[in-house]
Amino acid sequence: MKISKLAQVSPRARLGENVSIGPYTIVHDDVEIDDGTTIESHCVIGCPTELADGKSLKIGSNSLIRSHSVFYAGSSFGSGLRTGNRATVREKTVAGDGFQVGANAEFQGHTTIGRHVRSQSGVFVPQGTQIGSFVWLLPHCVLTNDPHPPSDVATVGPILEDFAVVCAMACILPGVRIGYGSVVAAKCLVTRDVPAGVIVAGVPARVRGPVEEVRLRGRNGMPAYPWPRHFHRGYPPDVVETWIRRFGEADKEGSPT
Ligand SMILES: CC(C)(COP(=O)(O)OP(=O)(O)OC[C@H]1O[C@@H](n2cnc3c(N)ncnc32)[C@H](O)[C@@H]1OP(=O)(O)O)[C@@H](O)C(=O)NCCC(=O)NCCS
Repeated sequence: MKISKLAQVSPRARLGENVSIGPYTIVHDDVEIDDGTTIESHCVIGCPTELADGKSLKIGSNSLIRSHSVFYAGSSFGSGLRTGNRATVREKTVAGDGFQVGANAEFQGHTTIGRHVRSQSGVFVPQGTQIGSFVWLLPHCVLTNDPHPPSDVATVGPILEDFAVVCAMACILPGVRIGYGSVVAAKCLVTRDVPAGVIVAGVPARVRGPVEEVRLRGRNGMPAYPWPRHFHRGYPPDVVETWIRRFGEADKEGSPT
């Protein structure tokens, strides 16, 4: 265990084997950090809030939380959580294994997140959002939950089904559902539910066709979607095996096998 002398770790926190805590990081009461996790400098872990209803914070094994990130009490993360710098994740976020939070991203909590969800820089996810597994949130996309801001009635977060991809700077309006494997194009404004397996683009978003029609550049006209046929980087082998069974696999030249 490598705890910096300049870190402030509550004696009521539970730290596993080989946990590393960087300088100026604060670990609050009742936080549970599993084996092999690294928390860099200047982080706040388990920030107290009444909204956590007294629940603790659990960070799974082999996670990496980069400097200046803030995690509130009352959330739970599987193994392999990774963040960029200055990520904020609020209370009552429940995420499966392999959750990635980009630099400067903000998850406002009260959110369920499946396995291996990847979000990139500057993403905003409001309370009440439901995110399936293997979803991608690309830089600066904004999900919303308040139809008539400011209000505190009728807020409802978006629902993102498995394998959905929300591209850079897209905006999803409250309560909208993005169907299984669908792609929301860059800068798109999604005002209505999106069915499964389509690409939507524009302001307001309109269906442009099935995702299979988008071609992967430089790969012999191979379809870019479903993306798990050709993109496996960083996913565990058992997950990739299930994808190959479900979607098939493209060879290096781009032809489907
Ligand atoms: C939607 C997208 C997947 C389409 O890719 P594509 O099929 O290769 O698109 P093309 O470049 O062949 O363009 C096809 C047409 O769609 C238009 N188009 C492309 N992207 C668009 C977008 N985001 N919104 C609106 N129209 C778009 C093009 O202008 C073109 O129209 P035209 O035929 O009238 O000239 C892609 O443009 C996109 O948004 N990628 C996301 C990039 C991103 O956010 N990356 C994040 C990681 S950095």
